[in-house]
Amino acid sequence: MSLIKSKKRVADHGEVFTPEWMVDAMLDLVKEESERIDSRFLEPACGSGNFLVKVLKRKLCAVELKFGKSEFEKRQYALLALMCAYGIELLEDNIIECRANMLEVLADYLRIDETDDLYRAASHVLSLNLIQGDALSMKGYDGAPITFSEWGYLGKGKFQRRDFRLDVLTGSSAFSAEGTLFSHLGKHEIFTPTKTYPPMTVRDLAARGDNPQEAA
Ligand SMILES: C[S@@+](CC[C@H](N)C(=O)[O-])C[C@H]1O[C@@H](n2cnc3c(N)ncnc32)[C@H](O)[C@@H]1O
Repeated sequence: MSLIKSKKRVADHGEVFTPEWMVDAMLDLVKEESERIDSRFLEPACGSGNFLVKVLKRKLCAVELKFGKSEFEKRQYALLALMCAYGIELLEDNIIECRANMLEVLADYLRIDETDDLYRAASHVLSLNLIQGDALSMKGYDGAPITFSEWGYLGKGKFQRRDFRLDVLTGSSAFSAEGTLFSHLGKHEIFTPTKTYPPMTVRDLAARGDNPQEAA
């Protein structure tokens, strides 16, 4: 696989992809986290997903080990694994490729296609978790602050979504440092979601993907 698309893109955007052996070696430095289904990873310059795809594959191995015998649980936890991967990428073609690469890994694992609600739910999740924008300014390509959805699995096929602004989340570490003006603030005051959604099933999520007006 070529590690660059063009010399111009390297010069303009520092676009050099990481080789597979190096991705594996780097993920091995956080091996336990990379193999935990619900650990959250954010790749702030995700390209076409060289890191995120490997993270997802590791998480899906964990899903297979823990839930491989139950088709229902396997599907829910595979979706949760996907929900825990986040990325930001400046270039439109890269973010589109990244979403497609992630979806392909999940679809291959579960042997599903677009006729399956879970496939369309995953596509919806990827449209929210993999954002085209600038990781430095923390703004999306439309200039609005980047907002990420925190997903959780409540059990019995229901998922929780809460949205948070990235600039607030990343600023929160400064708030909680000892001796700062804001150190007295409780975490609840910092981690206030911009929106909390009612619990949703795979079917609900698929419907949101089918009808983008509902997705916001
Ligand atoms: C060195 S490549 C790495 C891609 C991928 N992480 C990998 O390891 O294969 C850097 C990527 O970051 C993107 N990029 C550059 N500046 C960025 C920014 N400010 N915010 C988000 N992405 C950015 C580039 O378009 C490019 O795809």
